[in-house]
Amino acid sequence: MPQSSTVNRRIVLNARPRGAPTAEDFRLESTPVPAPAAGQVLLRTLYLSLDPYMRGCMSDGPSYAAPVAVGDVMVGGTVLRVEASRHGDFKVNDLVPGYAGWQDYALSDGRGLTSLYPEELHPSGALSVLGMPGFTAYMGLLDIGQPVSGETVVVAEASGAVGSVVGQIARIKGCTVVGIAGGQKKCRYVIDEPGFDFCVDHHGANLPGRLAVACPKGIDVYFESVGGAVFDAVMPLLNARARVPVCGLIAANNTTELLPGPDRLGLLAGALLRKRIKMQGFIIFDDYGPRFGKFAGAMGEWVKENKVKVSEVSEVSEVSEVSEDIVFGLKNAPEAFIGLLEGKSFGKLVIQLAHE
Ligand SMILES: NC(=O)c1ccc[n+]([C@@H]2O[C@H](COP(=O)([O-])OP(=O)(O)OC[C@H]3O[C@@H](n4cnc5c(N)ncnc54)[C@H](OP(=O)(O)O)[C@@H]3O)[C@@H](O)[C@H]2O)c1
Repeated sequence: MPQSSTVNRRIVLNARPRGAPTAEDFRLESTPVPAPAAGQVLLRTLYLSLDPYMRGCMSDGPSYAAPVAVGDVMVGGTVLRVEASRHGDFKVNDLVPGYAGWQDYALSDGRGLTSLYPEELHPSGALSVLGMPGFTAYMGLLDIGQPVSGETVVVAEASGAVGSVVGQIARIKGCTVVGIAGGQKKCRYVIDEPGFDFCVDHHGANLPGRLAVACPKGIDVYFESVGGAVFDAVMPLLNARARVPVCGLIAANNTTELLPGPDRLGLLAGALLRKRIKMQGFIIFDDYGPRFGKFAGAMGEWVKENKVKVSEVSEVSEVSEVSEDIVFGLKNAPEAFIGLLEGKSFGKLVIQLAHE
């Protein structure tokens, strides 16, 4: 068995955070690497995806993500190498995407393990464009947003794992695509790499005014992932019969109570009524799980045709020029995750645990 270690390092939930998570909410543990029983495989984690939904898993309050019990391994999507196999469908050194969580090794009976597609891509692509974020972008935009050629599509969190793919699909559909991102560097990237038409910096002054200039014909589809001040700037620009897929509200992830200020529910409800706007939330695997195969086929073709770009990969530990922010080492996952919730990551955040 080509097993490289007898120790399984894993990061467990140490305490439920109140507000923003801190390093003390996580704990690094070591346990023996388990041996596979008949019908099982032993998997080595190569790449671990860090995603905003994990903040919901750390709490036991209302969230679309199931809570992790205190003391349990943090959940997460992973790219894994088969280290030992007692399962007929897998052989040693196979690379498989799965959900092993924040740990070096895991056992599996094969359920939930898929295959990498297209095979020639860097394996971490299975955690971004060809994985859950890409699937979220695809279904949210196409099924709820229903963009039509010539329309204006605005994408919050445009440099992020989901947003950067939303913009590329909207371009394929012939739309004018305006991104919103934090800082000039991210805005430049959003235009240069995923190829948005415009990008507006949400950190600068007068966001509503600058967004209005970027969207002279108003907004037909707004892909919502942020909420807060970004949504306030978008709302007055929504056109009649606009569609708003509500994917996430990352600006509210760490809030513990309602933000101060006037109640704007009436404003929103009035706009929905007068303009016949359709605003719909979705939970990707709950709502669209059976359509993953169709998505993977379509996205695989777009990637092969270079219509959708897959992030470049480099091993870095700080924000870099690339759109996939890869941090090396399991022990750095908590700090990287805390930074993600503060907008410090740049594109898809991935932890590399081992070399292929
Ligand atoms: N509904 C579903 O099934 C589903 C599935 C996947 C993801 N999601 C949601 O989709 C959203 C994006 O996920 P992702 O994986 O693409 O995230 P990501 O790649 O990790 O990107 C996170 C980005 O969000 C922005 N951000 C962070 N804090 C912010 C704040 N307070 N205000 C404004 N922007 C902030 C930052 O970009 P800037 O610096 O540019 O602002 C940051 O780089 C999240 O809300 C996530 O929960 C939902």
